[in-house]
Amino acid sequence: MRTITLKQEMYLWAKQVKTAGHSIGFVPTMGFLHEGHLALVEEAKRDNDYVIMSIFVNPLQFGQGEDYTTYPRDEKRDKKLAEEAGVDILFMPSVDDMYKHKKSIKLMVTEKTDKLCGATRPGHFDGVVTVLTKLFHLTTPNRAYFGLKDVQQFAIVTALVEEFDFPVEIVPVDTVREPSGLAISSRNVKLTREDKQKAPALFNSLLLGKKLIIEGETDANVIIKTVRHYLDQQLGENVEVDYVEILTFPYLEDLSEVNGKVVIAVAVRFFTARLIDNIIVD
Ligand code: PAF
Repeated sequence: MRTITLKQEMYLWAKQVKTAGHSIGFVPTMGFLHEGHLALVEEAKRDNDYVIMSIFVNPLQFGQGEDYTTYPRDEKRDKKLAEEAGVDILFMPSVDDMYKHKKSIKLMVTEKTDKLCGATRPGHFDGVVTVLTKLFHLTTPNRAYFGLKDVQQFAIVTALVEEFDFPVEIVPVDTVREPSGLAISSRNVKLTREDKQKAPALFNSLLLGKKLIIEGETDANVIIKTVRHYLDQQLGENVEVDYVEILTFPYLEDLSEVNGKVVIAVAVRFFTARLIDNIIVD
């Protein structure tokens, strides 16, 4: 595995590989790698000749008071895991190199942001599409891999490449879970022991929602209320449920009656970390 830190060097490597007729799979991450990231690498290796992984904690996608400075980082461990997973190029640019130009253009996501995480994280997805636009240009991938745990990010990145004609296929990858059902996330390490024990309630609440749909419940409000009630009961007073929503998948449109493919999504604010999860039900 080769580590590249300079944008220019990254671009030249990708250009050479593409000119030689090889394909590139790209796995963008913010590091602190876990099984979820490694599952993305596994898919990317299956479909492409070379795999680039980026590790970049992108300041633009963190709002004021969010956890940019305390976001977990472990460069040494990440390098080892990436190498063992078979990553060919680990791209680790600095903030200064990525954002060295004075900004005169702003990318802004105008749809799909008034719901789920977008509703409470203003500007977050603007930061995500900005960094991905740059990373796609620098790595020129044939395919880029995104976990479905962040279903809103997947929907917005799909819209980005469709609307701006990026020649890259966005490949969704299923959420990886611990045996308890808890979705694997870099932020799980921030949970206290007590909250870690409570956290599987997120997935259990989603399974409850799915069960209601399978049993024939079509009223989205009834499902939302039942899931929220379950979460409130299981998590207790010190944990705040940010949202429980049901939307169409993959377009994330509002619905009152469940029909076709839908996603049930939840976000919960523990004292030390905010966790999200979702389930897609057809
Ligand atoms: O999902 C993430 O880790 C980030 O949002 C991404 C896609 C790497 C962009 O910074």
